[in-house]
Amino acid sequence: IALSLVSVKSGVGAGRLGAELGPDNIIQAGLIRRLNQLGYTNIDDLQVSSSLQQAASQGTSKAKNREGVIDVCRQLSEQVDESITKGNFPLILGGDHSIAMGSIAGLTKHYKNLGVIWFDAHTDINTEESSPTGNMHGMPLAVALGRAELKIADINKDACELKPENIVIIGARDLDQAEKEIIRSLGITCFTMHEIDRMGMGKVMEEALRIVQNGTDGVHLSFDLDSVDPQEAPGTGTPVPGGVSYREAHFALELMYESGLITSAEFVEVNPTLDINNKTTRLTIELISSLLGKRIL
Ligand code: ARG
Ligand code: MN
Ligand code: MN
Ligand code: MN
Repeated sequence: IALSLVSVKSGVGAGRLGAELGPDNIIQAGLIRRLNQLGYTNIDDLQVSSSLQQAASQGTSKAKNREGVIDVCRQLSEQVDESITKGNFPLILGGDHSIAMGSIAGLTKHYKNLGVIWFDAHTDINTEESSPTGNMHGMPLAVALGRAELKIADINKDACELKPENIVIIGARDLDQAEKEIIRSLGITCFTMHEIDRMGMGKVMEEALRIVQNGTDGVHLSFDLDSVDPQEAPGTGTPVPGGVSYREAHFALELMYESGLITSAEFVEVNPTLDINNKTTRLTIELISSLLGKRIL
């Protein structure tokens, strides 16, 4: 299988800059070599960059840096669309999590019933109205579901909205009040850290994979590195204690590989300016390897 590796060098959806440095840092640390070792030798190296270079905290509107985020997401949506048309597996490197709007816009041109596994400490389902920060990396799921003012069709006219029953959130532990209400009212399955503690990651993934394959034609993995415990992934803009362990994260990705269901993936919110000894970057390479078939034995 051929990969389209899309580097999305944008941090304008986050409250502070730095995530735009993630893709180059991950590639610098040896991602391509690792992909080659796993047997992926046909890799398209694609780039998306932001013309804007200012942290969202500079803005004052309800959706800060809105035009900058839309510009990046439109470019990404095009790249993802072309990647799928070629029959490649889109592997997207963020960037802050607002880029998921672009990934999903490109994917849903092709997959009309896309399943999504969303690993995150947060649920990123604020609308422009409900967001306490105005930072658009907290809004991609609301946009993808058609709950926000910004629509997925504003990014790609051929895109379609996600269905709540095809989304599973895993690892959540920091929700805004309005997000809790949206999740409950839409009936979105959310395996918070409480459910991971109670059921174990194996059972959580078994149920998650069952839900995202029911009535869907593709499954996208959106992996926010802040889902992992800050001890293992300190280089991220909005860390939250009490996260997924190193082994739980790997186990989940190994199970996704085994399932054969995942048709695209993105790894987001790596911020090298906040990292310690490149730990988060190196972890990201390891996690991508597990998703793409690395085995211990
Ligand atoms: N819920 C908070 C907000 O809306 C934090 C969002 C963090 N999102 C992220 N992708 N790291 O601002
Ligand atoms: Mn996120
Ligand atoms: Mn997050
Ligand atoms: Mn379904």
